[in-house]
Amino acid sequence: MNPGSTPAPDPGERSDAVTLADLPLREDLRGRTPYGAPQLEVAVRLNTNENPYPPPDALVADVADAVREVAVELHRYPDRDAVALRQDLADYLSVSTRVLVGERNVWAANGSNEILQQILQAFGGPGRTALGFEPSYSMHPIIAAGTRTDWLPAPRAADFSLDAHLAAGIVAERAPDIVFVTSPNNPTGGTIALDGLAALLHAAPGIVVVDEAYAEFSDEPSALALLEEFPAKLIVSRTMSKAFAFAGGRLGYLAAAPAVVDALALVRLPYHLSVLTQAAARAALRHADATLASVAKLAAERDRVAESLLGLGFTPVPSDANFILFGRFADAHRSWQSYVDQGVLIRDVGIEGHLRVSIGTPEENDAFLEASKEIPR
Ligand SMILES: Cc1ncc(COP(=O)(O)O)c(C=O)c1O
Repeated sequence: MNPGSTPAPDPGERSDAVTLADLPLREDLRGRTPYGAPQLEVAVRLNTNENPYPPPDALVADVADAVREVAVELHRYPDRDAVALRQDLADYLSVSTRVLVGERNVWAANGSNEILQQILQAFGGPGRTALGFEPSYSMHPIIAAGTRTDWLPAPRAADFSLDAHLAAGIVAERAPDIVFVTSPNNPTGGTIALDGLAALLHAAPGIVVVDEAYAEFSDEPSALALLEEFPAKLIVSRTMSKAFAFAGGRLGYLAAAPAVVDALALVRLPYHLSVLTQAAARAALRHADATLASVAKLAAERDRVAESLLGLGFTPVPSDANFILFGRFADAHRSWQSYVDQGVLIRDVGIEGHLRVSIGTPEENDAFLEASKEIPR
């Protein structure tokens, strides 16, 4: 056909007449909803627990240089095992947790969500179970579903705390292949102490994943301190998306026994971490001190926001992370919308009577607190 005479596309020829119902989708995925924190263009965005401080200029320059340097090799696949990056992450963990780990203890992927998915691919799957204490991070059951791992929800106390000894009893009784413990817990903010975690590890017949996405904001020691005692069970998952201010860079990692890393090599896609990601993450790690300097500021702001919420008559749940769950609202979704209408995006995490706010800059937090005065309860 003469390219000049191409007719305008007929809407009937496009493929958007096909709906999910027309596709041969797996039966167990029908009717499910995808993860979907709203990405709205509003002035104050406090809904995905990012670090509100942009990377310092020196970090931006270092990332740009590092990416330029590796760009000449873009025609080649990256180091499949990301050894240099894993060594840098191991060094960071060894210093920050005071538990000595090496490159063979560490594995990295595109965000800790991919880490969690690889764990479920290797240790979960059809005929296997994963248990989590709810409310907790919504992606744990979603990734379980994606890997056809049966999800076993277990409850937290009414105040959202986790009594580790009760939890250990549930784990012993239900004997899941994988247990998820999120500490500090998203969206409620509390941590679990090491002795409680040890009780849980004793009770668990299989893998225990301690999701420490927000560990840098907490004063509790890392679960890594228990690795020596539970090498065949414990996996500690971490991310550069929160305290490290690298959410857009997509870099998550874990620490565990080297055998766990060997197991994940069986399910990971080859060359999953691009040469650009590896170079950018290594550059960001070189500036860890500057980035992590924001942690103390954010923790202080968290305490100020919690105090102010109390003063306004709300009930904030005590948090060791960079967010606060607070209530009570007669209709949380209506109140969430009212925040949006005032230009403040926070999160309706589906917990009755509650909303979650991420800690932003002092100005953003002030805007949130100001809006809170006008919110229907
Ligand atoms: C508890 C927890 N784990 C893991 C993640 C995933 O983070 P990422 O994939 O950005 O590393 C999040 C993100 O919000 C989280 O809250």
